[in-house]
Amino acid sequence: EYKWFFQFPLPMPPVKQPKLTYTDKVTGGAIDFYEIEVKALEKQVYPDLPLTHMVGYDGIEPGPKLMMRKGREAVVRYINNGPTKMSVHVHGQYNRAPFDGWASDYAYPGQFKDYHYPNAQNARTIWYHDHTEFETSVNVYMGQNGFYLLSDDEETALRLPTGNYDVPLLISAKEYSRNGSLFYDTNGNNGLPGDIIQVNGQPWPYMAVEPRKYRLRLLNGAVRGAIGFDVIASDAGLFNHPVRTLSLAFAMGERYEIILDFAAFANKNITMRNANGIFGNIDFAATDRVMRFVVGTSVSDGSNNGAIPANLRYIPPPPQVSVTRNFTFERDLSNGKWLVNGVGWADVEHRILTRPALGADEIWEFHNGNGAGVHPVHIHLVDFQVLSRTGGRNIVTPYEAAGMKDVVWLSANETIRVVARYAPWPGVYMFHCHNMVHEDHDMLVAFNVTNLAK
Ligand code: C2O
Ligand code: CU
Repeated sequence: EYKWFFQFPLPMPPVKQPKLTYTDKVTGGAIDFYEIEVKALEKQVYPDLPLTHMVGYDGIEPGPKLMMRKGREAVVRYINNGPTKMSVHVHGQYNRAPFDGWASDYAYPGQFKDYHYPNAQNARTIWYHDHTEFETSVNVYMGQNGFYLLSDDEETALRLPTGNYDVPLLISAKEYSRNGSLFYDTNGNNGLPGDIIQVNGQPWPYMAVEPRKYRLRLLNGAVRGAIGFDVIASDAGLFNHPVRTLSLAFAMGERYEIILDFAAFANKNITMRNANGIFGNIDFAATDRVMRFVVGTSVSDGSNNGAIPANLRYIPPPPQVSVTRNFTFERDLSNGKWLVNGVGWADVEHRILTRPALGADEIWEFHNGNGAGVHPVHIHLVDFQVLSRTGGRNIVTPYEAAGMKDVVWLSANETIRVVARYAPWPGVYMFHCHNMVHEDHDMLVAFNVTNLAK
């Protein structure tokens, strides 16, 4: 039984510094070179239990925060000194295929791999995490994930809360054994819902805040389970316009940014809650709580604390498209595997399901086949717009519609249509269910963006 609710502070992952910077001889541009080591760590999660063994980037969990700027390329060398294979995916930016964390392209313990990151897109909250075939859920659960924050001039000009007032929150659900070890069973029918809610690696932390505006970058890093939030008021990040909502429902891999203003709550505590009874979720005794904000009485820095601009970013209306492709996410009840159109990752011969032409706009239609379970569907490479959701909840929420996304929550009985432009690079990329237990067993497939004539 965990009994230290809101007793320990929210951990802040350190900012990773480049090891060196060099000049690209062709473009004359600067390239930052980073080195990150995957290695084992021990951490006191429960004050009264033995240390928990984990594996993380640079030996911390979550890993160090990578702060990137649009227009400045980076190369990150991941050195695998952990006990298992490693493949790293930066979830939320387009990378050329060899650097996208292809699940079969892993480095063994003792090996390293250099990944090139273009950092050419608009500002966004990105998640980097392991993507090794059949082992992603375990590797991420054991600690291999972190934040990668891309900023740009347009975002800076909006004067949103910055520095200590810009807070990434990686929310996850875990389960521990009495000996302090992380409990994990990927073969169970339900995978692992997790009864311990953690933020940045700490169960139910508190954070001391000042009575002013904060930018909170919420990432649902749960391996399984959907989290709905009740916040007192929220205005989400770089949509076209801010969207006011009292609660936020999002599934694994989704990120939402909110501006929370504590100005009216000096000297009070605000608890972030997780709504019980969310579609497809399993509730436990304390999973209705997430973390607590302890609001102080004075503001040490009043800058970037103004009204949220009404216009955040131009998002074009969805293009008119004629190509529609259909994908059914379904469990094969004869062998227990989760599959896409009857195909899983192990089916090497058939796992490339489609071949969009480079630059084409396509609508992909996702169906939740036999209705069982929540499938947060993630497409690599592209940003998409959610066009419609029918069956199930029958609605595209205003905060889903207001921006571009790369994960969409496909619940029981739902059909969702998303539109994307398959660019800027050709190559073979993955798309899959981001419930990592499903992904590993075997709901992971690929598409081939090709510039050859059809
Ligand atoms: Cu967050 Cu295919 O990954
Ligand atoms: Cu799934």
